[in-house]
Amino acid sequence: MSEEPGDWAPAQFEEHGRELLAVLREHFESIRQVPVTVPSDTGDLSASLLSELPEQGVDFERVLTDTRELVLPYLVHWNHPSFHGYFSNSASFPGVLAETMTAALNVNAMLWKSGPAASALERVVLGWISEMVGYPEDSDSVLVNGASLATLYALAAARDAALGPSVRVEGLAGRDLPVLRLYTSDQAHSSVDKAAITLGFGTANLVKIPSDDQYRMRPDALEAAISADLANGFKPVAVVASVGTTSVGAADPVTAIADVCERNGVWLHVDAAFGGFWRLAPSLADQVEDLSLADSLVVNPHKTLYIPMEASALYCRHRGALADTFRLVAEYLKSAQDEHTVDYMNLTPQLGRSFRALKLWWVIRTFGRAGLAERLEHSVQLANWLREAVAEEPLWRVPVDSIYPLVCLRFEPSGDREVNDWLNAEIVEEVNASGEAFISHTVIDDGYVIRVSIGNIHTTRADVERLWRALREIAARRFAMPRAA
Ligand SMILES: Cc1ncc(COP(=O)(O)O)c(C=O)c1O
Repeated sequence: MSEEPGDWAPAQFEEHGRELLAVLREHFESIRQVPVTVPSDTGDLSASLLSELPEQGVDFERVLTDTRELVLPYLVHWNHPSFHGYFSNSASFPGVLAETMTAALNVNAMLWKSGPAASALERVVLGWISEMVGYPEDSDSVLVNGASLATLYALAAARDAALGPSVRVEGLAGRDLPVLRLYTSDQAHSSVDKAAITLGFGTANLVKIPSDDQYRMRPDALEAAISADLANGFKPVAVVASVGTTSVGAADPVTAIADVCERNGVWLHVDAAFGGFWRLAPSLADQVEDLSLADSLVVNPHKTLYIPMEASALYCRHRGALADTFRLVAEYLKSAQDEHTVDYMNLTPQLGRSFRALKLWWVIRTFGRAGLAERLEHSVQLANWLREAVAEEPLWRVPVDSIYPLVCLRFEPSGDREVNDWLNAEIVEEVNASGEAFISHTVIDDGYVIRVSIGNIHTTRADVERLWRALREIAARRFAMPRAA
């Protein structure tokens, strides 16, 4: 070979970058014509995606065309104004561009020394987030990929704080330890169960505290469960409270729960993955639970703050607790320290870490606190409009309220609960099959319920009105049809 292989020339990189941006521009300019969901019959996607290992490379134009033709039509478009499933999120354009820059620089933010400005920016954005969500700024904090791992790491720190440093050396097995207990509500996210499994508590020692008729953890039941466990010789380690539950957007009463935790010497972790940022919206400023009471906290900028996926912020008020669990410095990672340095590899088990802070820095600086607040308030108002429209419609009901822009609704034309369950499930299926919108469901005391989550940065009042029209039309048609045997 006469030339050394190498990468594209920088000029070619720019040229292809422009081609990609042109494709994305067209995608977003015509986004309302793009189906949100995939056709129900996707066939053998892996085969159609040219799965054979290519021996020779092809032009970028070909890669881009294949991506448009073979991949895009089979994606669920989360960054679409009519995506209302699970929790609607957004990759705002400044965040998307920041991801490109992050990938291009490919900095590893494991040590201060391995990219000082990456670690410094992480500290800056974590400070901004603590200010936005109302958590003490003099806490330890770190960016992680998602709330599930943040909760896992927080509960590892809580476990080790309860057992003392010997657990790092001696482990958990074959020792005369009390049974360790965790507590959360029967509405908590499954990541708490996964943490209990991974950390060796076991699901049998994750006590599910009953919630009230608004799906909020009952502090009196928590107190009773902890008292009973203490009387039986168990060791209560941590409580996980939720601010913005996945099912219906309920918030546990954090102040009362923190009081129970404090009296019993139990660590309080608050999962505010969904609910944390809504206090920025002026109409919710006084309604979101006080997150400052948590021993550890997770909030998810990738859910509600217009940041592309994999950006979650973990906070812990006990300085050094995360490092007590995770700090381990191999010879090849030793570096000089002073009062300005922070080595983020010490706060979680992850060593190689992408430069996540840049996308947060770009998005928060681009919109500003006021711009973020305005956009969050817009979603709140769209959800309020939908809730009111549903409440005024005969045969429709909002069976459970939430302060957040997550609207649960149910079509109830029949006196038979099972028929209503079936109808609501059919409505969800038909909306999703139409490609016009994507919605999801939950099951609560009232039965099968349609969930409409509003939070994408592109969603307008007209989008929500169109969805509400589609829901009513499908409901009326389905109700008129005989039910399949
Ligand atoms: C309340 C709550 N906690 C935790 C999670 C898990 O978040 P992640 O996907 O960032 O791990 C979710 C996901 O939707 C959630 O709704």
